[in-house]
Amino acid sequence: MKEVFGDMELRGMETRDELAKYHDIRKRLLFDVYLPHLKYDPNHPDEVCAANHQLGFFLRGQLIGTIRIDFMGDASVAFRAIAVDGQYQNMGLGSILLKLAEKYAAKHGCDKISLHVNKKATNFYKKNGYVEIGDWGVKLDPASISFGKNI
Ligand SMILES: CC(C)(COP(=O)(O)OP(=O)(O)OC[C@H]1O[C@@H](n2cnc3c(N)ncnc32)[C@H](O)[C@@H]1OP(=O)(O)O)[C@@H](O)C(=O)NCCC(=O)NCCS
Repeated sequence: MKEVFGDMELRGMETRDELAKYHDIRKRLLFDVYLPHLKYDPNHPDEVCAANHQLGFFLRGQLIGTIRIDFMGDASVAFRAIAVDGQYQNMGLGSILLKLAEKYAAKHGCDKISLHVNKKATNFYKKNGYVEIGDWGVKLDPASISFGKNI
């Protein structure tokens, strides 16, 4: 399944190169910055679990962002590791990525989204209709807060 908006799309990785780029973006923008004590593992069980969908955000065919959507087994999903590569930030693309991810979740029958937001990125989520909620699971990063949205 893919979600399309203009010359952008959100979909699974189709080649080994795309998968390598997906991991490179996550490692550089999220793990190296927010979780430097962890060694990034592209083969982590959470990455290869069938309920967790690795998705790339493509602009004119080029992978520029990432999200992982974890299906929790009820009507809810967790959005993980949302990132838009440096030169493409602050152009509204992250907000489009989120909208496409929400559509993707809805098409899979889900209407409730949770995510752990780094405190530095709270404005981005608030602006996209997400609000602070109580904790819903284990947090890897003490600098993050739980946010959610019903769609
Ligand atoms: C957060 C992020 C996904 C937003 O994507 P984007 O394409 O820049 O988002 P948009 O252009 O739609 O929205 C811009 C908003 O994002 C926020 N933002 C921009 N760059 C950011 C950065 N490096 N880190 C955190 N937030 C950022 C700003 O608050 C901005 O809000 P403003 O318009 O009120 O100034 C992107 O900046 C990013 O990948 N940052 C690094 C990784 C990260 O922090 N991910 C979120 C972890 S919870």
